[in-house]
Amino acid sequence: MRVHVADHPLVAHKLTYLRDKRTDTPTFRRLTDELVTLLAYEATREVRVTPFDIETPVAATTGIHLSSPKPLVVPVLRAGLGMLDGMMRMVPTAEVGFLGMERNEETLEARTYAKRLPDDLERRQCYLLDPMLATGGTLAAAIHFLIERGADDITAITLLAAPEGIERVQRDLVGITSPVTLVTGAIDERLNEKGYIVPGLGDAGDRLYGVI
Ligand code: URA
Repeated sequence: MRVHVADHPLVAHKLTYLRDKRTDTPTFRRLTDELVTLLAYEATREVRVTPFDIETPVAATTGIHLSSPKPLVVPVLRAGLGMLDGMMRMVPTAEVGFLGMERNEETLEARTYAKRLPDDLERRQCYLLDPMLATGGTLAAAIHFLIERGADDITAITLLAAPEGIERVQRDLVGITSPVTLVTGAIDERLNEKGYIVPGLGDAGDRLYGVI
């Protein structure tokens, strides 16, 4: 898996306010949305495009549009939903699929509880959205899920990642030939004993949806 950290002052600035425990839910949601548009810009650098001819008021020229089949954007429920609008603003013609995964808080392993996406992902570029790459169990399971359906190019977008989670996903992907890329806002120090990212930003889903 290729790992790309979006090293940009605007990303770091928005992350700082996301991390701050005083940031309220409406602000947290807005900042997530803004941050995702910046990450999406990096993540779609290699989105497949097809040239086509147009005429400007001045001359004929060639432009591009997104290739068919359209990219598939897959937020991992619940917290990934908070990233969907920001992503779709950048690729409004993409298709959206949904994957519901939750981690068992004792074993920290991921379980799929919902899926709504095309059966056949042959030749599809897929963009997985999940704010926190913590233990890596959910992301690794989601990537395998897409690859089993034929996806041949997967980019995961996360706000934050833990080194342990990145290592776990790398280990789980040994032998996988499809290109997989991680685009993240930052790689934090470590996980704590409860599987939370340190310093992190707490529970992204709870903060997005006002549970705290
Ligand atoms: N999920 C979260 O929302 N936060 C973490 O720190 C780890 C997993």
